[in-house]
Amino acid sequence: MASPVFRDVHVRAPGKLNLALSVGPRDEDGYHELATVFQAVSLYEDVYASAADRIEVSFAGSVDTSELAGADNTLVHRAARLVADEMTALDRERLGLGPRQSPGVRLRVSKNVPIAGGMGGGSADAAATLLACDAHWGLDLPRERLAQLAARLGSDVPFSLYGQTQLGAGRGDELTPVMTRGEFHWVLVIAPFGVSTPAVYGRYDELRPDAPRPHVSHELLVALRNGDSAGVAASMHNDLTDAAFDLAPQLAETINDAARYETRWLLSGSGPTLAFLTDDAVSARGLAGHLSQAGHRAVAVHGPVPGARFVSDL
Ligand code: C5P
Repeated sequence: MASPVFRDVHVRAPGKLNLALSVGPRDEDGYHELATVFQAVSLYEDVYASAADRIEVSFAGSVDTSELAGADNTLVHRAARLVADEMTALDRERLGLGPRQSPGVRLRVSKNVPIAGGMGGGSADAAATLLACDAHWGLDLPRERLAQLAARLGSDVPFSLYGQTQLGAGRGDELTPVMTRGEFHWVLVIAPFGVSTPAVYGRYDELRPDAPRPHVSHELLVALRNGDSAGVAASMHNDLTDAAFDLAPQLAETINDAARYETRWLLSGSGPTLAFLTDDAVSARGLAGHLSQAGHRAVAVHGPVPGARFVSDL
């Protein structure tokens, strides 16, 4: 049997933490110059692409996706349209598309990364969609081109494509790999609410109108290279912490509940997800169990993990 023109694919992309998030002054577009260290962690978004006449997107998963139902301009739609715009006349002919006919694809997104949680879940969806549409339509665009499209979709989307541990400069989209050793074991505490990233940055501007140029500490990079989780815990830092706690004061309760476990914590991105760094997988599972018993949604994960990748052809 001839191979189908449209390939059904399954792509998985990870959520992320920012082990350092140093935020500089605001530029004229309202964006901030960042110096950040991203780490991709083992909490994933899955995107399944199959044939359809137009671009159709649906969301399901372990997080409540009801607010996304019916939305027709999500990052997933936008990512699919950007890939569609890359088609050449030859591609269109091969796919049997008329000159004015838009290509279609059905994209089913299974979400595990919290929505508006500061872990780049939407960015992971977008990165996975870029890869899935490219493969579904058989375009074979270079990774570098997909990374350019990714940067147009959002500052964190290029990182979701590459994953692992990376230094992010500019808006967070100029990436350099960071050497790390071994695995780091995190416990995520996922809040039952989201916060708006622009609102957190806005509050940061009020709190720090004189923010200096951003930088990442040398100690953090050395600790990552040595696989020294105590060193990472001592040097990880997020400049948005005070701003996020101002907008979500309930976070202080989680910190109070966790204080007895003497584990260093970090706000993930613009929050409200909190990440506790433990010594090993056993400690992470133990802390996740304690925090779950105290009524929190706590999940043990590890990093670094790869960026968007094919799981299997369906
Ligand atoms: O690029 P992205 O759409 O993910 O950014 C979301 C929001 O985060 C922006 O509208 C902006 O308020 C804030 N942001 C910023 N500086 C950055 C990245 C994001 O102020 N470098």
